[in-house]
Amino acid sequence: MASVTIQAVKKRFGEVAILHGVDIDIADGSFTVLVGPSGCGKSTLLRMIAGLEEIHGGEIRIGERRVNDLPPKERDIAMVFQNYALYPHMTVRDNMAFALSLAKMDKATIDTKVQRAAEILALAPLLERYPRQLSGGQRQRVAMGRAIVRDPQVFLFDEPLSNLDAKLRVAMRSEIKELHQRLKTTSIYVTHDQIEAMTMGDKIVVMRDGRIEQTGSPLELYDHPANQFVAGFIGSPAMNFLPGTLRRAGGAAHVELPDGTRLDAPIHAGGTDGQPVVYGTRPEHLTLGDSGGIPSRVVVMEPTGMDTFVACRHEGAELSAVFRERYDFAPGSTIHLLPDLARAHLFDAATGLRLVA
Ligand SMILES: Nc1ncnc2c1ncn2[C@@H]1O[C@H](COP(=O)(O)OP(=O)(O)O)[C@@H](O)[C@H]1O
Ligand SMILES: [Mg+2]
Repeated sequence: MASVTIQAVKKRFGEVAILHGVDIDIADGSFTVLVGPSGCGKSTLLRMIAGLEEIHGGEIRIGERRVNDLPPKERDIAMVFQNYALYPHMTVRDNMAFALSLAKMDKATIDTKVQRAAEILALAPLLERYPRQLSGGQRQRVAMGRAIVRDPQVFLFDEPLSNLDAKLRVAMRSEIKELHQRLKTTSIYVTHDQIEAMTMGDKIVVMRDGRIEQTGSPLELYDHPANQFVAGFIGSPAMNFLPGTLRRAGGAAHVELPDGTRLDAPIHAGGTDGQPVVYGTRPEHLTLGDSGGIPSRVVVMEPTGMDTFVACRHEGAELSAVFRERYDFAPGSTIHLLPDLARAHLFDAATGLRLVA
C-alpha cells in the first residue's frame, strides 16, 4: 500500500489544456473517488497516475517515489476498466494468471494467488469457464481478480460499473467497498455518478473542466458545499436554487425573490445588503406551511411508497420537495414550502461561492 500525491498536475492534448494544475493528497489505504461530469478530465488524470499519459506539469508520487517518468509496469498499480478487457479465448483462471505468468512468477505461487483471489471474489467455481459463459457482474469480478492477484500498491478504477444494469451496479458497489475494507489497498475510483461517489468514497474529489471544485468526505460535501456547482452536483434529487437579492437591515436578513416573495436568510449565511444571491435548499429540507415560504404550483406528484416526491414551480424556477408523509396534492394547486433555515444556503450569484458569515 502507498499514499498517492498529485501536485500542480497539468495536461494538454495538442493546444488544448485539459487539466489546469490539480492537487490531491490520497492517504495510504484510503478509498478516494474522483467524480465530475463527462469530459472533465477524470480518466485522463487516472491514466496519468497509471503511466498511460504523459504529464505536462507538476508531479505525481506513489509513496515516496516520483513516478512522472516511470513506465506503467514499474509503478506497482493495477487498473480496472469499464469494459473489462478480458481475453475471450482464456479461462477465468488464465485471465487472472496472465499478468503473473508474464512476470515469470513460478506456477505454484501463481496458483496460490489465483485461488486466493477467486475465493475473495466468489469465483472459485467458475475458474475453468470462458468470459462468454459469465454474466456481466461475474466478468467484472474477474477483471477485479486480475487486479487483486498482482497485490499492487494502488488500485485504479475507471467507471468499472457503468456497463452493468442498475440492480447489479448497486450490488457490485457494496462488493467493491467490502473488498476495500478487507484488503485496505489504496484505491482511486473514477465515476460520473454522484451516488456511487457518495456511497463508496472515504473522500470525494469533485472535478469540473480540469479543475477541482472541492475535496472532502461525502457528508462534508453534502452539508457544506463550497459552491453552487458542488451543491447542485451532489444529492438527488438536486438542491433547489432560487435567484434573488439579499436584504440586510438591523440584525435581520432576508432574500427577496423577483416576484417579491421574501425568504428569511439561512442561519450563518454571509453576504451584504443588495448582493445578488442564489438561495439553495435541498428537497428534503422543505416542510409544508399554510402560508408564507415559497408559494409553489404543483406540477407532478411521484409517490415512491417510502417517500412522496413533488415536482413544482415557483415563477420560472423548478423546485422539488420530498416528504416522508403521503400526500396527494392536485396538479395545479399551490403549496407553501418552508425551507429549514439551519440547512439552507446562500451562494453569490456571480461567483457561485457559498456565502458564510
Ligand atoms: N487522446 C486524446 N486526445 C485529445 N483529446 C482527448 C484525448 N483524451 C481525452 N481527451 C479530451 O480530454 C477531455 C477530458 O477527457 P476525459 O479525461 O476522458 O474525461 P472524463 O473521464 O472526465 O469523462 C475531454 O474533453 C476529451 O475529449
Ligand atoms: Mg472517463
